[in-house]
Amino acid sequence: MPRLFFALQPAPLQQAVISAAVMPMVQALGARPTLQADLHLTLAFLGEVQADAVPDLLRAARDLPTGLSALQLSQVDCWAESGVLRLLPEENAITHALRPLVRKLEGAAQDVSIRIDDRPFRPHVTVARKVPRAASMQQAWPQPLASPLPFTANGFVLMESIPGSAGPRYRVIHSWLPWPGDM
Ligand code: 2AM
Repeated sequence: MPRLFFALQPAPLQQAVISAAVMPMVQALGARPTLQADLHLTLAFLGEVQADAVPDLLRAARDLPTGLSALQLSQVDCWAESGVLRLLPEENAITHALRPLVRKLEGAAQDVSIRIDDRPFRPHVTVARKVPRAASMQQAWPQPLASPLPFTANGFVLMESIPGSAGPRYRVIHSWLPWPGDM
């Protein structure tokens, strides 16, 4: 069964900027960077979904309002237990831009009887994994970024997480782009 989630995905140029900006820190920590093309922000994690439920899910999300999500990633956080390095959006963006969209996506999934993970929504962009515990413990987290990084997504996507020995890879299954009049 595919492991699915709704997400925001920035354009390749912005993924490249984010990737380059965090690389010195990722290397200094001795962590494994997320591949540039895989950078995303999860909006709603659906988990394993029956393949034959996917068409219904696509239909349920079809009429949701889409738009341009323009966030600023302003902090970097490291979770020692999971060894994950993450960029966090500024709080204002979470409240105003993301939460209403997240609620609608969760509603669309529930309409087709897909249960959503009930952990609280903690928006983040994972930029590296396998941060050695000793390296992460040497610093206080979260830290402000010297310059916030723009993260702009046009509409939203349904993605599949594909496990692999070098960490998960991600594949876009469907994109919902804003109508020109919505921008
Ligand atoms: P991560 O990068 O912090 O692991 C696919 O796994 C995407 O969904 C990733 O962005 C992952 O976050 C996120 N994710 C995985 N499990 C999740 C869960 N139980 N709840 C919310 N998001 C989850």
